[in-house]
Amino acid sequence: MSNKVIILSFVALTFACLAFAYEPKPLQDFCVADPNTSVKVNGLVCKDPMKVQADDFFFSGLHLMGNTSNPVGSRVTTVFATQLPGLNTLGISMVRIDYAPWGQNPPHTHPRATEILTVLEGTLEVGFVTSNPDNRFITKVLKRGDVFVFPVGLVHFQRNLGNGYAVAIAALSSQNPGAITIANAVFGANPPIPGDILAKAFQVDKSVVDQLQSKF
Ligand SMILES: *[C@@H]1O[C@H](CO)[C@@H](O)[C@H](O)[C@H]1NC(C)=O
Ligand SMILES: *[C@@H]1O[C@H](CO)[C@@H](O)[C@H](O)[C@H]1NC(C)=O
Repeated sequence: MSNKVIILSFVALTFACLAFAYEPKPLQDFCVADPNTSVKVNGLVCKDPMKVQADDFFFSGLHLMGNTSNPVGSRVTTVFATQLPGLNTLGISMVRIDYAPWGQNPPHTHPRATEILTVLEGTLEVGFVTSNPDNRFITKVLKRGDVFVFPVGLVHFQRNLGNGYAVAIAALSSQNPGAITIANAVFGANPPIPGDILAKAFQVDKSVVDQLQSKF
């Protein structure tokens, strides 16, 4: 191989690695988040490793039911790097999701994470929609013990198909997955997205948009 080919291969490989490294690989055993620093970095600043304790890798409370008394009838309890500082830089996190009877975790997306969900109790109808132009709706009914994956970035939801409470645990491939709830982001933006923009986007009369915006 000529030097040029070798250099080009090296450059291509570097970019391929960057593309795959969605959340950067840790460069040390751990980087427990220091809640007291004012320094801003991509992620959270590491606490002095010698001051790290077992409790920095610990969270307690996922046995507790979330309060589902809200219009959608669900509650997500998060265990992200802000709740469990030891998660910082590790590219993983967890949530508990409680559902009231017929409650739903409304359509939303995680900009930084794939989600793998397992049903602990109840029956859930779940689904996600593929990107443009197909926008294929992929859906399934899950029972206790069933596992389903929502690929990174795609709009997805869960609904409790039953008169009892349902609960699920999900792992996410980011210490800080982010969540964009579609209805809130579109109709509840602050300040609001101009109504005529949404009326054209949704192909409805502006009065319909006004009504939707008034709910958020
Ligand atoms: C952060 O500051 C508070 C208040 O000064 C202190 O109690 C706490 O131990 C500090 N946390 C860490 C991780 O240093
Ligand atoms: C649950 O949330 C509702 C609405 O915010 C509130 O009125 C109620 O007191 C909460 N229940 C508990 C047990 O915290």
